[in-house]
Amino acid sequence: WLIFGGGALVLFLLILGFGAFYLGTHPQSHGATIDPENVETNEAFERENLGLTQVDDDRYIVNIVASTFNYDLGDDEEGNAVSHIEIPKGSTVLFQAVTTDVIHGLNIAGTNVNMMVEPGYISSLEVELNQTGEFTLVCNEYCGVGHHMMFATVEVV
Ligand code: CUA
Repeated sequence: WLIFGGGALVLFLLILGFGAFYLGTHPQSHGATIDPENVETNEAFERENLGLTQVDDDRYIVNIVASTFNYDLGDDEEGNAVSHIEIPKGSTVLFQAVTTDVIHGLNIAGTNVNMMVEPGYISSLEVELNQTGEFTLVCNEYCGVGHHMMFATVEVV
């Protein structure tokens, strides 16, 4: 039984290692990489491109820079940090997120938007938002003493 248990462990580690190192599998990143200390070198994460952008009638992009302990969604016209975005019901939204420091867990509670944001990778997820209401964008990966302060609101109207 010990041999069976040990063999199963080795098999699982081999499968995990094959996926991670040979196939380059990473949660939600599709292999897209970025320098965590210079995220603005990628056009999507330039300061003026953060937050909600409409790209077509019913298509939007939301670019987010996560850091301890904040979700940066850019600034509004008055220069204040955006902490609330409104998206019309039925829209297709591409969420793209990076982190400048540690791992964060980007989750819009009550929706299926839930992805790890890891240093060095661009996490992306496209969803159709079909349920109206106000949802809270939270961090669900403990990232330090201010972990609970990482939030914003996403309203589907
Ligand atoms: Cu960021 Cu927890």
